[in-house]
Amino acid sequence: MAATDPLASFAATLDARLTSDGVVVLSPLDVERSLTLLTAVAVVAPTLRADCCMLDPWYNKGLGGTRDDYTDYIVGLLDGAARVAPHTYLWGFPEIVARFVDRLPEPLTLTAWLTWYYKNNPSVIRGWRSAQMTCLHLSRPDGVLHPEAFLNEAQLAKQAEGKLRYLPGPPSVIESALLVGFIGRTEQTGHPSQKPVAVYEPLVKMATVEGDLLVDPMCGSGTTGAVARTLGRRAVLADVEADYVTMVEQRLGIRRLTVPATVLRALDRT
Ligand SMILES: C[S@@+](CC[C@H](N)C(=O)[O-])C[C@H]1O[C@@H](n2cnc3c(N)ncnc32)[C@H](O)[C@@H]1O
Repeated sequence: MAATDPLASFAATLDARLTSDGVVVLSPLDVERSLTLLTAVAVVAPTLRADCCMLDPWYNKGLGGTRDDYTDYIVGLLDGAARVAPHTYLWGFPEIVARFVDRLPEPLTLTAWLTWYYKNNPSVIRGWRSAQMTCLHLSRPDGVLHPEAFLNEAQLAKQAEGKLRYLPGPPSVIESALLVGFIGRTEQTGHPSQKPVAVYEPLVKMATVEGDLLVDPMCGSGTTGAVARTLGRRAVLADVEADYVTMVEQRLGIRRLTVPATVLRALDRT
């Protein structure tokens, strides 16, 4: 493709920024557009093929608004995510996420139903106090898992001697406190739905290795980027809200990469 092609030129800039900064946040962009953009970019630049997509939309429960077509909407996003990466993590409340299990678009299948368990929800509503969120780990047939990343020293030694009889994975329940009040104060950004780094780390380790590329098209405060930094992965982040893009810039010490209008127009024509 000619060097003057807007998409190829954007891909080259994105690649260079990932090489220098490790994490890139795009100018405010709707999730459907960023998934289309990243699918197209990977065609012209194989180094930008993503390995894992984190999808953490609003939950259709008050905060962030509700939509009648939520199930169809999320299934559409899963379809877009499956084009971008072999692994997708979809977040939500269990009673809502349950609907997607029977509606997974091909070629995604359920790899694991993960639970984030926290005891410190400050809700004072009478009745059951919410203490969990669900994350579906969905994979394409080419998605490779990395349970070896969770071996301890003794298990690694046994493995080196060829004596490890099975490869134990991490538990599917991740216990980590909500970032509220004094808990995780230095990590808190002010985003109303920020996930703790400790919750995202095992997800990233299971689906990727060092140097791999993460995509988070509804990135909020940029937790995926923070984890990418710690674990030596690259990440492309996007959010529709300008304030959250600014929040990510401040949190990670990076500046946004503007997606040129010519690139967006070209995508709209596809
Ligand atoms: C649940 S929050 C993500 C929180 C994030 N995982 C974190 O740890 O900070 C959902 C995010 O999706 C963003 N969002 C909502 N609708 C969007 C859309 N159509 N396109 C892109 N982002 C969107 C919101 O602005 C919000 O920041």
